[in-house]
Amino acid sequence: MISVAQQDGVAVVTVDRPDALNALDLPTLTELRDRLAGLRDDEAVRVVVLTGAGDRAFIAGADIKYMSGLDVDGAQAWGDLGHECASLLEAMPKPTLAAVNGFALGGGCELALGCDVRYASRRAKFGQPEVNLAVIPGWGGTQRLARVCGFGVAKELILTGRVIDAEEALRVGLVTALYEPEELLERVTEVARELAKKSPLALAAAKAALNEGLQGDHTENLRAEAERFAGLFASDDQKEGMAAFIEKREATFTGR
Ligand code: CAA
Repeated sequence: MISVAQQDGVAVVTVDRPDALNALDLPTLTELRDRLAGLRDDEAVRVVVLTGAGDRAFIAGADIKYMSGLDVDGAQAWGDLGHECASLLEAMPKPTLAAVNGFALGGGCELALGCDVRYASRRAKFGQPEVNLAVIPGWGGTQRLARVCGFGVAKELILTGRVIDAEEALRVGLVTALYEPEELLERVTEVARELAKKSPLALAAAKAALNEGLQGDHTENLRAEAERFAGLFASDDQKEGMAAFIEKREATFTGR
């Protein structure tokens, strides 16, 4: 099951199937998709944090027992559902942070890659071990791992299926920072609370401009960035942000 705790504009989404190391079966993945879509549309939610229940796993992947019985059409639908979740994390107009508290394997690593920023416990482990099951990453890993860590690192990890520890994940740029396991969620929530105080308009525009930069034409993307930049000068938040700086006080953003 999926639990969601909301406070101070931060929603912490926890995948809670610890007996299966939070592997995602059909009901859990469907619920995750529905909860993420709800959080995308909830204006009270400014930042989403994704984590796993227990102290062993973030998400140990797609549920292999469920997948073992799928035919080609079933696997297509299953892949589409996982893609939907990763794309919701990647594209929703608010920051998404992964708090990787243990195994992030296969689909688990792919959902972490869908998030905007990844933080991990020193005990976390990452990998795309799908080739060992004679399949390939099916929820965006072949594309996003290369974008986050570079083409060479992605090829090596996906072709070998090798599982790496948190230190190596930090070194190859898969995660931004490591924390002690017992402090990970609190530290990530602190970052989320800081982000929740910023203008949601600016965060959404920055995220969209960054995401668009991965596609299409460089010149066109620079033009779109300039347009987004200028567009923000129509907002109350821009006036408040700059006035607060000049008046040497904290800004209060309304999202308008
Ligand atoms: N699917 C289903 N069940 C899983 C699972 C998964 N991905 N990962 C772990 N589990 C279950 C185990 O079957 C076990 O259940 P039982 O107690 O009922 O046997 C329970 O979780 C605990 O796991 P282990 O006993 O295996 O724990 P361990 O400490 O010995 O090993 C592990 C931990 C190395 C993570 C090992 O569980 C493992 O290799 N899991 C599979 C990881 C994997 O291959 N993930 C990728 C899946 S493919 C994918 O995700 C496709 C895609 O791109 C969408």
